[in-house]
Amino acid sequence: MQSDLSSKLHVGIIMDGNGRWATRRGLSRLRGHEAGVEAIRRVVEAAPSQGIGTLTLYAFSSDNWRRPKVEVTALMGLLRFYLANEVQALVRNGVRLTVIGRRDRLPNGIAAAIARAEAETADGDALHLRIAIDYSARDAILNAATQVAGFDKLTRETFSELVTGEQNLRDVDLIIRTSGEKRLSDFLLWEGAYAELHFTDRMWPEFDMDDLAEALASFHRRERRFGGLQPVALEDVPSL
Ligand code: IPE
Ligand code: IPE
Ligand code: MG
Repeated sequence: MQSDLSSKLHVGIIMDGNGRWATRRGLSRLRGHEAGVEAIRRVVEAAPSQGIGTLTLYAFSSDNWRRPKVEVTALMGLLRFYLANEVQALVRNGVRLTVIGRRDRLPNGIAAAIARAEAETADGDALHLRIAIDYSARDAILNAATQVAGFDKLTRETFSELVTGEQNLRDVDLIIRTSGEKRLSDFLLWEGAYAELHFTDRMWPEFDMDDLAEALASFHRRERRFGGLQPVALEDVPSL
């Protein structure tokens, strides 16, 4: 099951622009985040048909705690709602959900809801959905570094497991960022070492299947070389 998915693409998405999408329409930022959840549903449903085996979505960064309390509370409420209402659909669609990032700072009950959702979806073999919450790539690397004492010979594979919390996680093939911003904002710095980058002006709440297909089409036109001189075919992409 794992190995099947890891032979398919790993796509990461920085889901940006919820707030601007809403304020441009005279709506509250919260309405933008709500519309963003709809976009998540669309993309999760469309991903397997686009050759995606692993989808990592950036939902809340560790730096997002800097936002006004009312917005953070609303985002946590949406997360609670998603976990309570989405699991059945994920199971039905064969989606395995895991959450990456810190859990110890989340409001009461959310860590338990995450653990339940992960357990209930554990058998999904159509898509591995990873949602990044209270996530910082630098913290993930730092955290791995604090665990390496005692390793005789540390390999990239071993360190990678510590960073990602997964065995055999495929490196990220493609990182998409919506809303016109062109930066990584502390997302998948280790796993994305050779990721192709796709930036689109589309705001996240309006991102749809066609946008995903366009991002994938642009990805498939790229020539990836991994430091060599020849283009490397997808099935030959080196790991680590
Ligand atoms: C992305 O949209 C969602 C989160 C970061 C939680 P934003 O809320 O960053 O929207 P903009 O960038 O302010 O438009
Ligand atoms: C990145 O978006 C984080 C998420 C999409 C969850 P931000 O809106 O927080 O990033 P910056 O502040 O513009 O870099
Ligand atoms: Mg933003």
